[in-house]
Amino acid sequence: MFFNILVVLSLLPVLAYAQDTNFVYSRVRLANLSRDGVASVTSNGLLKLTNDTKQQMGHAFHPDPVQFKNSPNGSVFSFSTAFVFVIQPQYAILGGHGIVFVIAPQRGLPGSLPSQHLGMFNETNNGNDTNHVFGVELDTIQNSEFQDINENHVGIDLNSLTSANSAPAGYYADGGKFKNLTLISGKAMQVWVDYNATETRIDVTLAPVNVQKPKIPLLSLRRDLSSIINQNMYVGFSSSTGSMPTSHYVLGWSFRVNGEAQALALSQLPKLPRIGKKKTSRVLTIGLPLMVLLVVSMLISSVVYVIRRKTKFAEVLEDWERDYGPHRFKYKDLYIATKGFQEQELLGTGGFGRVYRGILPTSKIEIAVKRVSHESRQGMREFVAEIISIGRLRHRNIVLLLGYCRRKGELLLVYDYMPNGSLDKYLYNQPKVTLNWRQRFRVIKGVASGLLYLHEGWEQVVIHRDIKASNILLDADLNGRLGDFGLARLYDHGSDPQSTHIAGTLGYLAPEHMRTGKATRSTDVYAFGAFLLEVACGRKPIELRAEDVILVDWVFACWDRGAILEARDPNFGAEFVEEEMELVLKLGLTCSHSDPSMRPSMRQVLQYLEGDLPMPELSSVGLSSGGLTFAHREGFDDVAMSSPSTMYKAFAHSSSSVAESHLSGGR
Ligand SMILES: Nc1ncnc2c1ncn2[C@@H]1O[C@H](COP(=O)(O)OP(=O)(O)O)[C@@H](O)[C@H]1O
Ligand SMILES: *[C@@H]1O[C@H](CO)[C@@H](O)[C@H](O)[C@H]1NC(C)=O
Ligand SMILES: *[C@@H]1O[C@H](CO)[C@@H](O)[C@H](O)[C@H]1NC(C)=O
Ligand SMILES: *[C@@H]1O[C@H](CO)[C@@H](O)[C@H](O)[C@H]1NC(C)=O
Ligand SMILES: *[C@@H]1O[C@H](CO)[C@@H](O)[C@H](O)[C@H]1NC(C)=O
Ligand SMILES: *[C@@H]1O[C@H](CO)[C@@H](O)[C@H](O)[C@H]1NC(C)=O
Ligand SMILES: *[C@@H]1O[C@H](CO)[C@@H](O)[C@H](O)[C@H]1NC(C)=O
Ligand SMILES: *[C@@H]1O[C@H](CO)[C@@H](O)[C@H](O)[C@H]1NC(C)=O
Repeated sequence: MFFNILVVLSLLPVLAYAQDTNFVYSRVRLANLSRDGVASVTSNGLLKLTNDTKQQMGHAFHPDPVQFKNSPNGSVFSFSTAFVFVIQPQYAILGGHGIVFVIAPQRGLPGSLPSQHLGMFNETNNGNDTNHVFGVELDTIQNSEFQDINENHVGIDLNSLTSANSAPAGYYADGGKFKNLTLISGKAMQVWVDYNATETRIDVTLAPVNVQKPKIPLLSLRRDLSSIINQNMYVGFSSSTGSMPTSHYVLGWSFRVNGEAQALALSQLPKLPRIGKKKTSRVLTIGLPLMVLLVVSMLISSVVYVIRRKTKFAEVLEDWERDYGPHRFKYKDLYIATKGFQEQELLGTGGFGRVYRGILPTSKIEIAVKRVSHESRQGMREFVAEIISIGRLRHRNIVLLLGYCRRKGELLLVYDYMPNGSLDKYLYNQPKVTLNWRQRFRVIKGVASGLLYLHEGWEQVVIHRDIKASNILLDADLNGRLGDFGLARLYDHGSDPQSTHIAGTLGYLAPEHMRTGKATRSTDVYAFGAFLLEVACGRKPIELRAEDVILVDWVFACWDRGAILEARDPNFGAEFVEEEMELVLKLGLTCSHSDPSMRPSMRQVLQYLEGDLPMPELSSVGLSSGGLTFAHREGFDDVAMSSPSTMYKAFAHSSSSVAESHLSGGR
């Protein structure tokens, strides 16, 4: 009597089971297989022989024994099986170790080891004829221990992991062309194992799941299995992992003794547990919300970033400014140039604001950026217009204004960088480096020629309004250059003409300037006179600590008693040119004349300095000590009367300018 057993395991998670053709197929869930090790059945009914853990094995056997012989000494019946598997490594190209279809005397192959032993044998029993184990291995690791041919082969194992015959994974397509297959590709493949008892031949055939069973088997072996297979045996699968986490799946299985295994209903196989699929579900459950979160947060942060950037680099640009385009700087560029207006780049703080050093990002030009805070927009237009027209001034004794930038409540002026800073640093408060007479005289002449250019060399008269040592900058060759011109106007503009909001610096302000609030060329000459005395004497025009408060009075007193050279900066010692020193001091006094009409023009000043014109003798008639003193006192009184607090502040910080006092007082 023959038992025809057909076992069908499929995705439907059912095992079709029949004892005979007459027998009714009964459905058995895949879960009815006897499992051990890490073998499990997934929620959607897949048989998962190994999960993603390393050095593990899993077995799944048909629970009941299958009769292969009529008697213990009889010959083995023909049998046939077909199954679909997937080997899915965690890392695309590294997997291990494989799946074996096994026929064994006991379920679960006790004593076997994982890894290269594939859950079939162990070191001691491998190769022992008493094992009675038949296997068809799908091996993904090359073990020289078992003479494996490569890391992607199919082999027939008889009591041993050293295959009796093996072949690289692949199949013979129609026409006999061999095509390679990769076992660990994560793609579903079908295996057929057929034993023909008449011919005592084992055929193993492999093919992609969507390919019909190839006519030519991959592998054949002539061997009577009667000595290996016992009368009653268990059939199933063994699988193991090594150091690479790999999942081994069986998607469907049919088995039959004495007959061909029923073809698997491939259309009803479960969706392949591909990396894509597996990962997709993970991506959907965890990854997707995470990615959405990520995208949303990136979006938000980029929006915030853009907004912050926008406000950070926001500028004020009005229609009337279009004409000044070329002179307009981008705030962003200035920001980058000054490294974000870093404290380290601060050159100094003047009456109008802080000055930063910078290097323009594209042109690499060194610049000085002055940040002038300006609350009201009043007069801004005229002022910018003037700044721009001044920017067109070119003279070697003028600090070049490169352009400007406007932001809310702020004006940024971009100048040529002057590496040696302002002149005042070399004059008073025990300077570390001082300038000798030759250098100072050169600076004086330079400044005079710069100022002459402003007054006469330009199509319109430009009044500097704030000449003083701290506004004279020294270039790399220690040439004196006029800086800061025109700025004082910013505080004149738009202010009530009745109130004397005078811009400029106390001690440099001509008396009539204080009275009328009107800046003229001769008020500039007056300031230049104070500057001359400042440079020659190394003292500020007004010193509050010293007894002789006002420099010009003191120099005048020296001159009056016939010892004008005593007024010179003691730092010179004997190293100065007497004629030049005397000339500068006397010229300083002449320019400081309280009567504007008595002051020389800048052209004359330059001629005196160059020696082209003899200096007229100072007459005590025009320059009476009392008159001068009175003029200055009168001037202070004016300021004091018009704005006592300003006066107070100006005196409290002797270096501060009136403009500054007004600014701080106004807020
Ligand atoms: N173009 C420049 N190059 C180098 N340093 C400068 C430049 N302009 C100004 N500075 C420095 O910044 C300081 C303040 O400048 P400024 O605002 O002009 O002063 P103040 O208002 O007192 O005249 C100066 O003392 C000088 O050291
Ligand atoms: C399969 O298992 C179920 C219960 O899990 C049981 O009801 C059924 O009879 C089993 N089938 C076979 C063929 O063993
Ligand atoms: C694999 O299976 C074993 C035994 O069932 C279990 O302990 C382990 O957590 C599983 N590992 C994973 C990654 O699922
Ligand atoms: C089976 O063969 C063995 C020896 O190969 C013998 O000892 C035994 O008697 C035989 N049994 C039957 C039932 O033929
Ligand atoms: C190897 O397997 C055999 C048969 O299952 C078992 O009897 C033996 O104890 C195992 N040996 C080792 C070292 O595990
Ligand atoms: C094969 O196994 C049997 C029983 O486990 C043992 O007695 C025998 O010595 C083994 N033979 C070899 C060659 O290891
Ligand atoms: C198939 O694989 C073998 C080695 O495994 C290789 O030598 C051969 O070139 C491959 N053939 C094709 C068509 O990829
Ligand atoms: C075995 O081979 C013989 C001769 O080739 C053939 O007639 C027979 O049908 C085969 N049996 C099976 C079960 O395929």
